Amino acid sequence: MVAMACLLLLGSLFLSLSANAVQEPWRIRDASCPDYRTYSTRRHSPITNGPLRLPFQRPLAECRTFVSSDVERVITEVKSRISDVDLAQLFENCFPNTLDTTVRWHLPGRAPQSFIVTGDINAEWIRDSTNQLSPYLPLVKNDSTLRNLIVGAIHTQAEFITSSPYCNAFQPPALSRLKPSSNDQSDSVNPPYDPALVFECKYELDSLASFLNLANMFFEQTGDSSFVSQDPYFMEAIKNVIQVLDEQALTTYDDKGNDRRNWYTFQRQTNVGTETLALHGAGNPTNLNTSLIRSAFRPSDDATILQFFIPANAFMAVELKRSKKLLAAAGYGKLADDLYTRGEKIEQGVWEHGVYENRNFGKVFAYEVDGYGSVINMDDANLPSLLSLPLLGFVDASNEVYQNTRRMLLSKAGNPYFLKGPDFAGIGGPHIGVRYAWPMSLLVLIRTSDDDAEITAALELVKKTTGGLGLMHESVNVRQARDYTRSWFAWCNSEFGKTILDLAVRKPHLVFGTGAEAYSITT
Ligand SMILES: *[C@@H]1O[C@H](CO)[C@@H](O)[C@H](O)[C@H]1NC(C)=O
Ligand SMILES: *[C@@H]1O[C@H](CO)[C@@H](O)[C@H](O)[C@H]1NC(C)=O
Repeated sequence: MVAMACLLLLGSLFLSLSANAVQEPWRIRDASCPDYRTYSTRRHSPITNGPLRLPFQRPLAECRTFVSSDVERVITEVKSRISDVDLAQLFENCFPNTLDTTVRWHLPGRAPQSFIVTGDINAEWIRDSTNQLSPYLPLVKNDSTLRNLIVGAIHTQAEFITSSPYCNAFQPPALSRLKPSSNDQSDSVNPPYDPALVFECKYELDSLASFLNLANMFFEQTGDSSFVSQDPYFMEAIKNVIQVLDEQALTTYDDKGNDRRNWYTFQRQTNVGTETLALHGAGNPTNLNTSLIRSAFRPSDDATILQFFIPANAFMAVELKRSKKLLAAAGYGKLADDLYTRGEKIEQGVWEHGVYENRNFGKVFAYEVDGYGSVINMDDANLPSLLSLPLLGFVDASNEVYQNTRRMLLSKAGNPYFLKGPDFAGIGGPHIGVRYAWPMSLLVLIRTSDDDAEITAALELVKKTTGGLGLMHESVNVRQARDYTRSWFAWCNSEFGKTILDLAVRKPHLVFGTGAEAYSITT
């Protein structure tokens, strides 16, 4: 702990020196710009002349938090090809939303930093920020300002994980001089954390996988691993990821049957069951010998019921294996092999312990297991989810177990959080409750489907249920689509952008019209 604090202190000294030497931070938003929290709840012109009359919701040019000429080029090119003006407007609003509104602070230059907020909350979630930035990754090869933004985002995530590897959401970096905010909770968490650095400390395995994911995507796009050695935090963060994996591979009882403490515990004063953990903050028991890793919380920030949360284990398996190439290229060959082997072990654990025979749907993936034979059977809209397994790269969409699972998850009979009403249908979750389905689940449904009718129906549904605001929301009331949560939810806007760009390559006729040619943003 002491060593870590010293490293942090040295790190920030180093960075503040170089910051003074380099240049002013990039575009801290002008105080005269409207708050996007309210801006996104009102309709702005120009309004389309399509049946939905969708508004233009990008902030004024001078109020955008980051500008990429390549992203602007893509918007123009895609818009010019989409004949449905409402769909085109939705793409124009959603695809740049993370750059337009959530780059709360960016320090460019040789030691870049980027603080990417989730939207309406002034904090960065590691998982959200990776997904928010992901649609721009194919452009970093050619756009050096965007590349600098992403390297900065990798750095800032690494700095967070170096200080507090068990936490999921973080305060602005000290150098930004932005004020930290409070989540208004009194949590007792072990290991303890500094609320000046951490916004919330829920341990989510997928959050650590998301950190690897951003670095891996960047390396795959650019072939450039130089950030690994240039960044004072990156390898420290990798060490911390490995330490958490080791600690969270430990189960409730040791091999002599004695109980042992969980390295992570979390308790909150709350009347919401999903906001705190059983067994004095340790979570429900897990069994030996599964090679799965525990997760205290889900990507929804709700507590897991059984701690072997399968989507995050699948995601971690994929990203550990993917990291081999990055770390080998950066000169860490032995560690690269170690991570690969860890990934293989977890992958095997998922197939051995995370698949079971469902009475109605055959062999399917479980959402959570405990190694004792208990299974939580459901899916939640937040990514990683079971529905998203092919997008994570864990399994091919044509795989039989995945197809069984998918049929189950998209049915009222198979998934307790498949929600359907007169206005909207999709997967929701306990976070908002059983009357609200999440547009994000429909975007994942589209990207994992080869069926034109299924894709078109889902796209129509998403398009029609923005509450007239032309942006994605977190969740939508299935009985009354005008009732939604979170007008400014940047992550889902990025997912919408990715979905249109996916269809532009894979199913151009569905977005550009019969006979249209495929369009890829990198050509
Ligand atoms: C775990 O594996 C060890 C070594 O193979 C074995 O002795 C033990 O019985 C196993 N425990 C459980 C709960 O499967
Ligand atoms: C990058 O730019 C070069 C030249 O400007 C162009 O030939 C190439 O297609 C671009 N690549 C991408 C990925 O946009």
